[in-house]
Amino acid sequence: MKPPVLDSRLDQLADYPFTRLTRLLGGPAEPSSIVMSIGEPQHTPPALVAEVLAAQAGLWGKYPPANGSPDFRQAVTAWANRRFDLPAGLIDPEKAVLPVAGTREALFLIAQTVCGPRQGERPLVLLPNPFYQVYAGAAVMAGATPVYVPGADGPASQPDFSALAPEILERAALAYLCTPANPQGSVADAALLERSVRAARRHGFVLASDECYSEIWDKAPPPGVLSTCAALGEGLSHVVAFNSLSKRSSVPGLRSGFAMGDERVMAAFNRLRSYGGAATPLPILAAAAALWRDEAHVEVNRDLYRAKLDVAEDILAGRFGFIRPAGGFFLWLDVGDGEAAAVKLWRDAGIRVLPGAYLAGEDQSGVNPGKPYIRVALVHDLETTGNALGRLAQVLGG
Ligand SMILES: Cc1ncc(COP(=O)(O)O)c(C=O)c1O
Repeated sequence: MKPPVLDSRLDQLADYPFTRLTRLLGGPAEPSSIVMSIGEPQHTPPALVAEVLAAQAGLWGKYPPANGSPDFRQAVTAWANRRFDLPAGLIDPEKAVLPVAGTREALFLIAQTVCGPRQGERPLVLLPNPFYQVYAGAAVMAGATPVYVPGADGPASQPDFSALAPEILERAALAYLCTPANPQGSVADAALLERSVRAARRHGFVLASDECYSEIWDKAPPPGVLSTCAALGEGLSHVVAFNSLSKRSSVPGLRSGFAMGDERVMAAFNRLRSYGGAATPLPILAAAAALWRDEAHVEVNRDLYRAKLDVAEDILAGRFGFIRPAGGFFLWLDVGDGEAAAVKLWRDAGIRVLPGAYLAGEDQSGVNPGKPYIRVALVHDLETTGNALGRLAQVLGG
């Protein structure tokens, strides 16, 4: 029998971080485990979700259009206008906005949209290091070469793509920014966003700004790439912003987000997704539109995370290189050897955390900058989180 031929690029993908974690820890989580390895919010979803889904149940019988419903596109446009104080008309809801089935698939498919072959040369995809694992996989499966760009001001900071050599920027098809960053929680300031957008425009690549943690902030709302576009002029040229309800509204299971940006890129993205994307069902679009129109539940949610950061700071300040994240809900702790710490925490305390090495790639000197770290997701209630962090500090010493 002749075996089926598989795409050899799949061999270049690292195993998914959670697969590696299960292997490292010798099995999956148990009901009594405290799972802080995955960024899956455990807060109660707003009641509004179930209400709208029930009210719109008649729409399950319809195929949803790939570009969603006018109501959804208007709701997210109005949200972006409010949140980033954008001038009217910057975003055309009919041309610049698409629903996505969670930002993961969208962040993956944007690479397939922009990384075509270029006169025999593989395009480059620029990504932060450490990074959200999907960026690297998307680059590889799109036939591009990932370029890991470290933080400009040390391992916890944001990368500055504009400082790369012009020959790298000329070969780039796509750059992923993640602000607030998973895993470190750092935020790109307005000046960095501006330099990044200018570099994308000058060198002709697309800047994908993953902002799915933008609403989980501590002291101040992080700026977004759309406000940079408003400040710079030239519309949304070369830019696509991605956002999601998974973290903002604690509904990761709803699988609902949006992409918003350069109309030329969005048209191509819609074309690709019309063939291979998962269209969001109409009842989910209706629930999502209601969630984007409501800020009250987001404020409550944000306060819950802030209280957990207070507890984390009480327990961990001055230890494990603790930095209170400006955004998002992860702690990025320097424990010396992330894998060894993850094994110890699991064995001695039943706590699962993710070794930082699984969220980073080797730099040019063969060093994985995530190796000394663990990522700890503050997704449980305050009491569970406080108890777990207390145990963590006890088990790891520090
Ligand atoms: C940085 C980042 N981007 C995107 C996603 C994908 O989220 P979703 O597909 O639920 O929108 C995640 C999920 O953990 C993430 O951490």
